[in-house]
This record gives sequence, C-alpha cells and structure tokens, in this order.
Amino acid sequence: MDMTAEPNPLPGGVPAGGSASVAAPANPEPLLRLRGISKHFGAVQALYGVDLDLPPGQVTALCGDNGAGKSVLTKCIAGIHEPDEGEMLWEGRQVHIRTPKDAASLGIETVYQDLALADNLDIVQNMFLGRERVSSVFLDEDGMERAAADTLAGLRVTTVRSIRQPVATLSGGQRQAVAVAKAVMWNSKLVMLDEPTAALGVAQTAMVLELIRRLKDHGLAVMVISHNLNDVFEVADRIAVLRLGRMVAEDWLSSFDRQSVVDFMTTGGSSRDVLASGSSHDKD
Ligand SMILES: Nc1ncnc2c1ncn2[C@@H]1O[C@H](COP(=O)(O)OP(=O)(O)OP(=O)(O)O)[C@@H](O)[C@H]1O
Ligand SMILES: [Mg+2]
Repeated sequence: MDMTAEPNPLPGGVPAGGSASVAAPANPEPLLRLRGISKHFGAVQALYGVDLDLPPGQVTALCGDNGAGKSVLTKCIAGIHEPDEGEMLWEGRQVHIRTPKDAASLGIETVYQDLALADNLDIVQNMFLGRERVSSVFLDEDGMERAAADTLAGLRVTTVRSIRQPVATLSGGQRQAVAVAKAVMWNSKLVMLDEPTAALGVAQTAMVLELIRRLKDHGLAVMVISHNLNDVFEVADRIAVLRLGRMVAEDWLSSFDRQSVVDFMTTGGSSRDVLASGSSHDKD
C-alpha cells in the first residue's frame, strides 16, 4: 500500500466541453504509440502487427466487430496480456508493460463496465482502494472524503446522493462515473474504457460521454471501445478500426462517415472515397 500517494483533485473551473465540432488540431505527439503488436493464443492469432497512436487531449474510438481483437489490444496496453511481438512507446520512450501495476505506474487506467468497483464498499473507499491515506495510525477519512468529493465535483458528477453510499446502490451510469473519477484522481494520463455505455440508458449514456469529454479537456488521452456508432460520432476525435486482428483504418473522425466505418468493420475496406488523404493501413 502506498501511503504517500497524493490524489489529484481536478481544479474547480473545468472548461466547457463541446469541442467535437472544432477542426482536428495538428498531430500532437502521441502519448502512447503501438507498433507491430501481435498476440496469439494457441492457434488463434488475435492481433497481427497492429499500429495505433493515442494522442493526449484526444478521444480515440476503437471500433470493430465481435472478436476483432479490441479487448485483447486493450489488455496488452493494460498489462494483462504481454504481446508476442511489437513495440510500445510511451512519451517517446520504449516501455514493456508486463503487469497491471506497470500500467498503473505509467498512468494507464482501464475502466471496465462491471469489474471496476467493489460493490460492498462506498464511493470514497472505492476511490482509495489499495491507496488509503493514513494520518498517524488512523485512516484519514476526512481527507479522503474531501479528495473524493472534490474530484467528483470537478467532473460535475452531481447525481450521487452521498459519497458514503455503497457502490452496489448506484446506477450503472453513476458506477461508470465513479470508476472514471477514480482514474482521474490518480493522475492518469491514459484512460481506456471498454464498452462504457453498453448497459446504460439514454441519460446515463449522455453523462458518461460528457465525462469522457472532460477527461480529454484535461489533456488525457482517452481510448473508448464502442459498438455504438452514435456514441463514437458524438465523442471521438479519431477512429481506429480493427478487423480480424488487423488495423484496417486509423484517422481523424472527419475522414469517416457511419457507412465507411461499417464498411471497414465488415470488409476491411471502404468503397466510399472518404479516406482520400487516408490511413496508411487500409488495404488498396
Ligand atoms: N484468453 C484468450 N484465450 C484464447 N483466445 C482468446 C482469448 N482472449 C481473446 N481470444 C480470442 O481473440 C480474438 C479477439 O478477441 P477480443 O476479445 O479481443 O474481441 P473483441 O474485439 O473485444 O470482441 P467483442 O466486441 O465481442 O468484445 C477472438 O477470436 C477471441 O476468441
Ligand atoms: Mg471485447
């Protein structure tokens, strides 16, 4: 347990979101750059030489049909699977992420729909789980409560009645919000969300998409896996499409329309000429 770790409550003044319509900025240096990542499980080749850039301050949507390799790729970045081949460059330096702890120490947090939180603990306990603060011999309950409340307020999460509420009593969207807030509080630089809105209603989905925008406004790199193209087009700055373990397209949102994303997901190419300046990855 790291008792010296200091959380990072967001400053009060969070810039308003709504940057989706702004033109794509000049290519920022990626926070994480993947080159030639391959991974197999026995006879199953899950990833073939995958390249992907995750720039700071941008939301990258990772799209693909069932079994395309999205979760395996996420788990390679999260230190759950070790790639067979390939390079990962973090802030330009080569890294080997072998365990979830390696990922956390770089500032990589993964938010899963169901696994992120401990149901029987309250919100504060969840946000400090494994990193509890101690003053003299006692847990610093007041300090942790303030930091948790500040972080949630900074993200404008206002629907939670009490931060001492057990997480089991929260709605799906509120749970997602707490998982995201936890990632933010610990100075994460990259947050990956695997199907964050799959089980959510309309209002909860809107809340989670708004949170994703706030993360990006704070300069974090965000990777979102989603089957829902409405969500993708609402929140993403960039789209990357995996098909059968290969990266078949990676470009700014404005290079795609919904049909071309579906085409890339299902056939690996698009007859629509929307990628004129296109990705170097799409096949002829
Ligand atoms: N632990 C594992 N052992 C063996 N094969 C695996 C393992 N994990 C994934 N695979 C295989 O790797 C391929 C990619 O799986 P992955 O879970 O990444 O798909 P996905 O794109 O996340 O799909 P979905 O949209 O259904 O979640 C699949 O063929 C899957 O069966
Ligand atoms: Mg998956």
